[in-house]
Amino acid sequence: MVIDSELQDRLAQARELLAACRRVAAFSGAGLSAESGLATFRDPDPDALWSRFDPTELASVAGFEENPQRVIDWYNWRRRRYAGVEPNPAHRALAAQPRMIQITQNVDNLLEQAGVAPQQVYHLHGSILHDRCHNPDCDQREAIDPATPQALRDCPRCGDRMRPAVVWFGENLPEATWMRAQSLCMALDCLLVIGTSATVYPAAGLISLARRHHSRVIVVDPNPGAAGDEADVCLAGSAAEVLPTLLDGFELASGT
Ligand code: OAD
Repeated sequence: MVIDSELQDRLAQARELLAACRRVAAFSGAGLSAESGLATFRDPDPDALWSRFDPTELASVAGFEENPQRVIDWYNWRRRRYAGVEPNPAHRALAAQPRMIQITQNVDNLLEQAGVAPQQVYHLHGSILHDRCHNPDCDQREAIDPATPQALRDCPRCGDRMRPAVVWFGENLPEATWMRAQSLCMALDCLLVIGTSATVYPAAGLISLARRHHSRVIVVDPNPGAAGDEADVCLAGSAAEVLPTLLDGFELASGT
């Protein structure tokens, strides 16, 4: 791993900033899992999912109701790609911070696989490794083995369709998790923003919420977009490269 001298300087600045902080949380997006081999959504990379597929067909209630088979086939294709995927050094560096809350837009479970306690991970966009009933009044939920995902099927409890337990465009975020994430961001010394284009709201609004409540912001992203504009320190490198160095020796005090 070679880190250029400009990034080295910024890393030193970010480490100094972090060392003075007691309340630190992470807010991550698809870039965190990129080096585990999972495609992001909006990179210039031609593999990015929304360069190849139409989110209105595949990630909306209208798209599901119009053609549920197409949606389930696409999610099952994605799920098979998740089978056998491993956490990368960025997940492991975060997992080495047992007191740090992980707010994530990612629907994978690589933070948990790396050793973060499930209650420390706030999944704002749900889980691709579960199905739930499409009927909002039914609480049927099932774990999915990504190697052998289940075909389109009806809910065994109410007869509506089962669907991936992810948040689609136009849907609300899981309310309790979203409330917890907002409260946390109103009481931070520093928000560590990792690998997100910060374009999907309301999740992306956590960065400015934290800033309005006097939190500092450190961004880790090789192509920092909107998040970079809000950063006190912007580390333009890959998460797997930068986070292990950034967090080496850092430890949140208890009670944070
Ligand atoms: P995006 O694909 O929009 O952004 C990914 C970000 O990761 C970009 O800023 C990249 O520069 C950065 N990136 C790429 N490789 C990286 C690496 N190795 N290390 C660090 N950063 C890297 O993904 P999100 O911001 O997560 O919604 O997208 C937000 C939401 O849009 C997703 O949760 C998803 C999607 O529609 C749902 O699934 C509901």
